[in-house]
Amino acid sequence: TRIDKAGHKHFMAKEIAEQPTVIGQAIGNYIDHEGNITLPDPGLDFATLDRLTLVACGTAYYACLTAKYWFEQIARIPVDVDVASEFRYREPPIPARTTALFVSQSGETADTLAALRYCEGKADRIVCVVNVPESSIARESDLVLPIHAGVEVGVASTKAFTCQLVVLFLLALKAARDRGEMDGDALADHLSALRSMPSVLSTALEANAQMQKASLKLAEARDVLFLGRGLMYPLALEGALKLKEISYIHAEAYASGELKHGPIALIDKAVPVVVMAPRDNLFDKTVSNMQEVMARKGRVILISDRAGIEAAGEGAFATIELPSVPDALTPLLYAIPAQLLAYHTAVAKGTDVDQPRNLAKSVTVE
Ligand code: G6P
Repeated sequence: TRIDKAGHKHFMAKEIAEQPTVIGQAIGNYIDHEGNITLPDPGLDFATLDRLTLVACGTAYYACLTAKYWFEQIARIPVDVDVASEFRYREPPIPARTTALFVSQSGETADTLAALRYCEGKADRIVCVVNVPESSIARESDLVLPIHAGVEVGVASTKAFTCQLVVLFLLALKAARDRGEMDGDALADHLSALRSMPSVLSTALEANAQMQKASLKLAEARDVLFLGRGLMYPLALEGALKLKEISYIHAEAYASGELKHGPIALIDKAVPVVVMAPRDNLFDKTVSNMQEVMARKGRVILISDRAGIEAAGEGAFATIELPSVPDALTPLLYAIPAQLLAYHTAVAKGTDVDQPRNLAKSVTVE
């Protein structure tokens, strides 16, 4: 079947807009009628593993970094996470009872495939989360978990990222159940919140105009800083990556708490600072980091929910209001501004959004 832009100016815009639908498909494929999380054969029992090693490249790596917080906090499993190009040559010891999990949209990324092969015969199990079930990475895995995102054309990954997050979140919930870290009621609550995410993402997409407006500021900048803590740290990294990839603006992400250890030296009125701060348990800490930025005349673009925007007070250059969701689900939601800020900035700069210079959709060479 031929894939077209379905009335959108770019594939990336189409793929961003598709996310409510495709994450709904991803969720539906992993939950049965009784509300149990079901995996394809041969399944996976998290009760019998001691460690999870997550490996990927690019955007898929940031999905893994997000998943580390989930697996550790929700399921209490120790997690290692690394980019494939480092992992494969470091020759890390793989302790007994380790499950190695590889995340890749294409399933063909050379470094990720090599990292998988390194784990063969060392890890107890090799699991992959892929968009292409016929791919090399899928063929060499013991368990294949498809993300059901549909074909992704834009070089900068968008809907694959949120579908990867869905599958990884469901795995973390399953792991928590398998290990006795979560009761049935808590699981049902998490699943019902997850099932409402397609409509929450649709609402978030309605904040498009706010994001487009904020992007005009980003388009003028030479450097942009993204800040977040906890689950928002990987999202800040993803926001910075998206901006670099398609608008060619230098962007860096920092865990907000690290601001004082270096990057604060960069802050002046020429550096927009995107702060991702849902009103979660780390909100007050992030806001105090944001105030340090404003005190140095940094132009803050605050992304939060209504309660967060009200509590943060005046002083932000721009605000982007998103719905409020349970803390664990903020990564799925904040993916939308991470993507749309980059998209609108690239459009404002007139770059080739779907085919950015020097980048390839699938990197099958080292
Ligand atoms: C390339 C793409 C990125 C992608 C990365 C990993 O660099 O441009 O968008 O995140 O490869 O690709 P994979 O197919 O392994 O997820």
